[in-house]
Amino acid sequence: MTTPSLLILPGDGIGPEVMAEVRKIIDWMGAKRDLAFDVSEDLVGGAAYDAHGTPLHDDTMAKAQAVDAVLLGAVGGPKYDVLDFSVKPERGLLRLRKEMDLFANLRPAQCFDALSDFSSLKQEVVAGLDIMIIRELTSGVYFGEPRGIHKEGNERVGINTQRYTESEIARVARSAFEMARKRGNKVCSMEKANVMESGILWRDVVQEIHDAEYPDVELSHMYADAGAMQLTRWPKQFDVIVTDNLFGDLLSDLAAMLTGSLGMLPSASLGAPMANGRPKALYEPVHGSAPDIAGQGKANPIACILSFAMALRYSFDLGDEATRVENAVEKVLADGLRTADLMGPDGGASVSTSGMGDAIVAALDASL
Ligand code: IPM
Ligand code: MG
Repeated sequence: MTTPSLLILPGDGIGPEVMAEVRKIIDWMGAKRDLAFDVSEDLVGGAAYDAHGTPLHDDTMAKAQAVDAVLLGAVGGPKYDVLDFSVKPERGLLRLRKEMDLFANLRPAQCFDALSDFSSLKQEVVAGLDIMIIRELTSGVYFGEPRGIHKEGNERVGINTQRYTESEIARVARSAFEMARKRGNKVCSMEKANVMESGILWRDVVQEIHDAEYPDVELSHMYADAGAMQLTRWPKQFDVIVTDNLFGDLLSDLAAMLTGSLGMLPSASLGAPMANGRPKALYEPVHGSAPDIAGQGKANPIACILSFAMALRYSFDLGDEATRVENAVEKVLADGLRTADLMGPDGGASVSTSGMGDAIVAALDASL
């Protein structure tokens, strides 16, 4: 068997700091579990712009297409706000998603017991929460044409287009139904069929795929605004939520905060299987580059470490090792270790970014 390959793109802001902690976990897997990875590293986002004048160099894009999985930190920062839209750091990330055709974005929102009083919601509303948002990631208003800012008469008009084809809806719906079968067997599909034609089509296609291929899975539909309300009212009613690119962006931030901190949540973006049977895949934390705390050792590396755990599970069929990493995270949280984002009313030990990474490595050692 060939050594699995990983391309690491730390990116901007806290990206390099949290990725340094992921490297410790990767090294641990090589040293203690005999699971070596062929790791290479490259630039994305503002870091790539500074070096090459583009947020994603063509060579980096080619490498991303060739490896078994990509691991990304975060992109963006105030320094790049002045750049032309076409070379903003975010365009690098969007190009990776689009060209690798990573249509299914898995965003789990799980509440760790040790953190159930960190949520802004009551403890009983979030304790034990375990939901999975599947966001369509390569189409919709993020990519639809026409788009742009035009002059009409003597004023400017901004245009974006929400566009979905049947096959784009069908494939992400299948991802959601497959996921539901491995979990609580329930899917809730969210759109705005009351005001958008693309929402009507979304609802129809999800229902058709369900009736033809997944009648055993429980399916419901909700308008996305009502979905946001229900997510804050009683999130445990959901198992898998499937929704479009823009609604998924909003709803996954909302769901993330239910768990207390954006610094905890990983994501996987998956495409079609490659020749070796593995899906095209990019793993990244849900949080952004947090420029306000970059370089201070305050960032929480857990979301990025849990993203690597998702890579173990979804790209490399190493579900047991993924669980080992997740349990190690659970253990350090139960022990009271907290990065700055997790300093709640109960105080708790405050550790730096690298302190958290070291503690997780120690918990991994203890798991052997
Ligand atoms: C996300 C982010 C991105 C998005 C940005 C950085 C382009 O918010 O992954 O949720 O809008 O998709
Ligand atoms: Mg977002």
